[in-house]
Amino acid sequence: MSDEPLVLGIETSCDETGVGIVRGSTLLVDAIASSVDEHARFGGVVPEVASRAHLEAMVPTIERACRDAGVRLEDVDAVAVTAGPGLAGALLVGVAAAKALAVGLGRPIYGVNHLAAHVAVDVLEHGPLPEPTMALLVSGGHSSLLLVPDVTGDVRPLGATIDDAAGEAFDKVARVLGLPFPGGPHIDRVAREGNRVAIDFPRGLTTGRDLERYRFDFSFSGLKTAVSRWVQLRQAAGESVPVADVAASFQEAVVDVLTRKAVAACRDQGVDDLLIGGGVAANSRLRALAQERCDRAGVRLRVPRPGLCTDNGAMVAALGAAFVTRGREPSELDLPADSSMLVTTVQA
Ligand code: KG4
Ligand code: ZN
Repeated sequence: MSDEPLVLGIETSCDETGVGIVRGSTLLVDAIASSVDEHARFGGVVPEVASRAHLEAMVPTIERACRDAGVRLEDVDAVAVTAGPGLAGALLVGVAAAKALAVGLGRPIYGVNHLAAHVAVDVLEHGPLPEPTMALLVSGGHSSLLLVPDVTGDVRPLGATIDDAAGEAFDKVARVLGLPFPGGPHIDRVAREGNRVAIDFPRGLTTGRDLERYRFDFSFSGLKTAVSRWVQLRQAAGESVPVADVAASFQEAVVDVLTRKAVAACRDQGVDDLLIGGGVAANSRLRALAQERCDRAGVRLRVPRPGLCTDNGAMVAALGAAFVTRGREPSELDLPADSSMLVTTVQA
């Protein structure tokens, strides 16, 4: 029998119902039920639809996770759950389920921060996190640059988006180009056939005063507008839109800024390890350019595999297990779901 804690993690902050089980830093199972198809026709996640889908998926997903991992619920040593940030109603479903399990099983509960969990998940793939690690988190809901001296207790925000999240920009531009929701994977695919220097789209907050004031922050809303305008002008002139070139040039503008600022932050803070997480970390061009720039700067790059970058239960279980292993006190049983939980609050 292993001494490492068996931890079940629940994630419901957005549209995936995730239940993961880990033994210490070993992944046993990562069960996901996604309601993304139910949102596609609205072009974005509808909170009420997501909450209802979590309610329906929760018990079957817990059962599937236990079955596939070959563990019984009674064997679980601790329950971890995303307490925030995220959609309020969606978070509530996960938090309520986790409390019910903790009470029913007589086990401790750890309410964890979703962003810290995106960082902690990489121990499942690449082993212990260097301390400190620089983390670039990019998804449909968040884009932040974090200095992480200790993922269980010390997470410091260096910068964040001042308008749209990176994934949100991918989704909106995909819509302009007539590609399905969520748009990121489609832009990634279409861009492979395009020329990334065909159109010189703006790089937000990278020059002059902006750079001084927003050194490690991001802005994608101006870029999104520039792409829309460029497409509209072509259409108004009766010309066809070179979708692959627009996709490739837009994608280049996003990943250029993300990687440039992330590597600059590593240099500035004297950090040798950069981790990229969140759904946009699945982007092939982001991975390639990040690798190139990290190699040049002497920074080691860690990117979890795409399935662990998008929202999932394993990341919550991984952070929960880190709390248990480090002897951290569990959360109170009345822990709240906090839709605007600050990234500096690692545990609820
Ligand atoms: O982390 P995630 O699953 O959920 C949120 O917390 O938002 O991220 C979803 C986001 C969507 O905006 C989606 O378009 C984007 O990640 N995404 C991508 C790629 N795969 C997913 N963006 C760019 N390239 C990709 N390959
Ligand atoms: Zn996320």
